[in-house]
Amino acid sequence: MTKRVRKAVFPVGGLGTRFLPVTKAMPKEMLPIVDKPLIQYAVEEALEAGIEEIIFVTGRGKAAIEDFFDHSFELRQVLAERGKDFELNTIEFPVLEAGSIVYTRQQEPLGLGHAVWCSRELVGEEPFAILLADDLIMADTPCLKQMVDVFGETGGNVVAVEDVPLEHTDRYGILDVASDDGRLVEIKGLVEKPDPVDAPSTLSIIGRYILLPEIFDYLSDWKKGVGGEIQLTDSMARLIGDKPFHGLRFQGTRFDCGDKAGFFEANIAFALARAELHNQIQSIVDAYATR
Ligand code: G1P
Repeated sequence: MTKRVRKAVFPVGGLGTRFLPVTKAMPKEMLPIVDKPLIQYAVEEALEAGIEEIIFVTGRGKAAIEDFFDHSFELRQVLAERGKDFELNTIEFPVLEAGSIVYTRQQEPLGLGHAVWCSRELVGEEPFAILLADDLIMADTPCLKQMVDVFGETGGNVVAVEDVPLEHTDRYGILDVASDDGRLVEIKGLVEKPDPVDAPSTLSIIGRYILLPEIFDYLSDWKKGVGGEIQLTDSMARLIGDKPFHGLRFQGTRFDCGDKAGFFEANIAFALARAELHNQIQSIVDAYATR
């Protein structure tokens, strides 16, 4: 029987250089979309997909993430004394049961593949998810839940995919497609950030993965790829053939919050989706549209 996906790895060690200067003193994963940090959206998505154990691969300067997922006794007490139940509720949610969140550090920024490799002992011998918090997905059914459902049908490895403009293939892991039924894609190859002329397709990997633990055998080589970094995509490419490997065209809208324009677009979209903010934000957007 296929094992359940119980653990999720969140690589959060990145320096966030695209958001300097703000990321000089705060993790990029704590940047807010409306009033919640990016990392909270990703953790909520994981929990809604049935994940029970959260593994953060952090780095220096990321302590705010640990504090965020801990109780804040002072704040709790003050809010309770003042009868601010609504606010109290907002700070309670992301706190998981003691022992269900673990942290390990990526001591050197050697790439995404290396960050994932750092979680090997914590993941052990079971399928696991990886979520990149920069990729924020608005969906009726959380993207990872859609993938867990596919994993239940197909087993093997599953990645979330989306079509990108040809000129953007050098920003993503790109699929070489064996077959495609419009929703599920059978993958026969993967290339990290190819030039548009070399790209085998325009189907790109979005930051959601369900991988089998065999990935760690390949990651252990520490082989460097494009940009001199240890790339997760390169090790995933070596997994192809042994077990099924599928891409899922997920239902939903993905925002690239690692990019300034994408980050602001996400803020507008998520604010518009909030009933209490919708009208106000819509009139601001309209006012700028006519300037
Ligand atoms: C990483 C992966 C890439 C993937 C992308 C999704 O790239 O290496 O394969 O397509 O995330 O966001 P990064 O954005 O870290 O450069």
